[in-house]
Amino acid sequence: MKIPQVKGTRDFYPPEMAVRNWIIDGWKRVSRRNGFEEYDGPIFERLEMYQIKSGDEIADQLFSFQDRGGRNLAIRPEITPTLARMVNQQINSLPRPIKWFSVPRLCRAERPQKGRLREFFQWNIDIIGEDNVRADADIIFTTVDYLRYAGLTEEDIIVKISSRRMLAAVLKEIGVPQGSLDSLYVILDKKNKLPDDTFEKMLDELLRDSGMVSKVRTFMELENIQQIEDMFGRQEAFNELVELMKFLDSMGIGDYYRFDPGIVRGLAYYTGIVFEVYDKASELRAICGGGRYDNLLKDFGGPAISATGMGMGDCVLEILLKEKGLLDVPELKSGLDYFIARVPTIIAFGDNRTPLSEAVKLAAELRKMNKSVDVSYKLSGLGKQLKEAASRNTEKCLIIGEEFEDGKLVVKDMATGEQESVDMKLFLSGLSSKSDR
Ligand code: HAM
Repeated sequence: MKIPQVKGTRDFYPPEMAVRNWIIDGWKRVSRRNGFEEYDGPIFERLEMYQIKSGDEIADQLFSFQDRGGRNLAIRPEITPTLARMVNQQINSLPRPIKWFSVPRLCRAERPQKGRLREFFQWNIDIIGEDNVRADADIIFTTVDYLRYAGLTEEDIIVKISSRRMLAAVLKEIGVPQGSLDSLYVILDKKNKLPDDTFEKMLDELLRDSGMVSKVRTFMELENIQQIEDMFGRQEAFNELVELMKFLDSMGIGDYYRFDPGIVRGLAYYTGIVFEVYDKASELRAICGGGRYDNLLKDFGGPAISATGMGMGDCVLEILLKEKGLLDVPELKSGLDYFIARVPTIIAFGDNRTPLSEAVKLAAELRKMNKSVDVSYKLSGLGKQLKEAASRNTEKCLIIGEEFEDGKLVVKDMATGEQESVDMKLFLSGLSSKSDR
């Protein structure tokens, strides 16, 4: 019976695994150089954890189940609630600010589409315990730092920034009742994903006031803070946006961002600055998204401590890097350091030593020196063994032949085809002096 793959999941054969590792290595390296420490949590949590504050969209996409004790659990669709729970648990002993990163495997029962799957990896960076807008600037800088590290430039990507606080103030000015804000955020977040008339209909159904709907629509189209100020008056939340942008300019990423009131974020817990990164051609879904969430720790029973962070999935990123020819994964080209071949016509050397026993012994010694080495399982002709070595992307072939009796190996450079006979002891001592372990 053939069992098909589950919809929205991926199999990582070695080439795909090399790409995944390469992406994750980059995330980790850039996290560390920006001062973040790694953490992780469990792959499943109590179901209610995602029902409290993630919002209906995430709650509808949960893979949930009951354990044998009848407890309702869910596979994590994001790691931010786990982070809040973990930090709350040790809040008195953790030095602040807490700057942590993680690369969890997440599951969401979304409709699979380009860049959105049911299982994916997501880089998270979060700063907890810092109200200063410089923390938001650090999150955005670290995000851009990685995207630049991967080879993308301001020609390829754009960080779109807004503020939930400002949005709330403007919507209040427009007359939207406080109680409708959370539902309105969800609709506004969908603006670019929905046909225009569906978006309009959803606004109509929620607000039931055509004047309000038209003002909300006008606001969503504005292009700079000045226009908002002209229409809705100066809002307190503008100051932090202006300050944030100044920091980003000082950090040298002024060409990478723009203000965009259309950025709302779908998750319910955001309270302040919010941002998403897109490909500049706007052909793909968001590369990543994040923002400030100052109430989540308190909502999870902890103290009122502010937080800001970002999540970036591997799917859109990989598509974009591939499109731009930037998937330059060294592991895809690399193979073995050495392949040990043996001349098949030699049956044995003295002292019960066979070419095979010597080949596996030599392989074990080289592996101790941290070299990647293999020996064919088949005793075929030398030509076939060399072919196998080539198919494994081998750098050098070590041939055990007649001269092995005199302590010599033939070393064949697989790129140039050149070969020479070398003293085995000298060869090994030369390697061990270079070896790092
Ligand atoms: P999010 O907007 O739900 O935020 O997801 C952030 C990113 O994760 C998306 O921009 C996308 O790259 C990736 N992603 C989300 N869903 C999928 C999917 N089904 N398939 C592939 N990739 C996906 C959060 O998750 C927040 N917890 C981020 C955060 C951390 N905010 C503060 N700290």
